[in-house]
Amino acid sequence: MNFKDILSKMVKGKKLNYQEIDYVITNFTNDNINEEEMSKFLIEIYRKGLTFKETLYLTNSMIKSGEILDFSKINKTLVDKHSTGGVGDKITLIVAPIVAANGLGVAKMSGRSLGLTGGTIDKLESIEGYNVNLDKNEFINQVNNIGVSVISQTDKIAVADKKIYALRDKIGAVDSIPLIASSIMSKKIASGANIIIIDLKVGNGAFMKDIKSAKKLAKTMIKIGKKWNKKVVVILTDMNAPLGNSIGNSLEIKETIDFLNGTYQDKRLKTLSLTIAAYMISKGKNISVNKAYILAKETLENGGAYNKFENWISCQGGNLSELKDNAKTLEVFSDKDGYIDEINAEKIAVICNELGSGRSNKRTTIDYGVGIVLNKALYEKVEKDELLATIYYNETNEKERLVEQLKQSFKIIGIKPKEKNIIISVIS
Ligand code: URA
Repeated sequence: MNFKDILSKMVKGKKLNYQEIDYVITNFTNDNINEEEMSKFLIEIYRKGLTFKETLYLTNSMIKSGEILDFSKINKTLVDKHSTGGVGDKITLIVAPIVAANGLGVAKMSGRSLGLTGGTIDKLESIEGYNVNLDKNEFINQVNNIGVSVISQTDKIAVADKKIYALRDKIGAVDSIPLIASSIMSKKIASGANIIIIDLKVGNGAFMKDIKSAKKLAKTMIKIGKKWNKKVVVILTDMNAPLGNSIGNSLEIKETIDFLNGTYQDKRLKTLSLTIAAYMISKGKNISVNKAYILAKETLENGGAYNKFENWISCQGGNLSELKDNAKTLEVFSDKDGYIDEINAEKIAVICNELGSGRSNKRTTIDYGVGIVLNKALYEKVEKDELLATIYYNETNEKERLVEQLKQSFKIIGIKPKEKNIIISVIS
């Protein structure tokens, strides 16, 4: 077997078997196939797609390129969730304690973001003392004792995916159904849980621009899950505005605290959090989604979720009264009366990145205190000169431009817009 013959088969439109796909994945992972060759392989997939069988082979080969976590010592039913990435996405921080307070286990490895805003681990690291690097026994013991632990992802899971994803990004081959499905599912399957709820974002700021392709991706991931005996539910959600009112690492921890203790609950964030928690609880306990939704809501309302959150953070050494939240503020006011019809998630993320909340643009360190708080929510009424948003910054010489840029992220219209449900559909 050699790479040239495999590529030639693809070019001629012939299907690949497992050995051929595994040959390419293994040799690329071990640096025996170079980036130029691998780009040709990925571009063939990007242009022509793969059959389901080939997508499964690709996923299986990527799973075995790294470790498969063994959670057999965990005494709880484990449920996992995954998001394809959103601006202001603090759903893991909210649903993990809700689900754990209902007796299930969340043993989650999350990422530090390389994108415009921080990942879950960056958000947790904005809490003074929080340890993202528990060893395997500490991680398992904590889940057995309190039902939840979130630590930093190891580089040992689905090793091939990391290399392939970086190359896909470089050559512009990200938005391909077989490539996304194999990338997500290889990591999720190797991460050990048998129940996986995927929050698949759809919209202009997401990988999936339209509902039809998102549904196709969802079905592919569910089918791959079935082959591995995993229960997979995919929730298609609207990603045209940030989630919640805060974007930025410590700001999102503050919003999580306010959300869980009932001080402030953004409507779209609440709908999405309770829906994801409900599917995790429903599949974990084998009860109806309606019943699970009621349990999730009760746990939120009776303080059980907040207590679990505090317990989780303190078990990992974190002190919620000490956040890395040092920043100055700049207020942004509305130029006109009307209703908020759009808050452009991507534009907001670009500003947050410039302020220092992510690692994009070769930034290596994160400023945990910076970001944006939206003082008006999507669809809300606003009057001229009312506060629209607040910028949290530490270093900038361009305050006026940032204020103008943030104003441009809001679309304000004269009539009350029709509210879109954040949940587009649920596929299982
Ligand atoms: N998220 C992933 O993990 N992989 C992709 O390819 C796209 C989104």
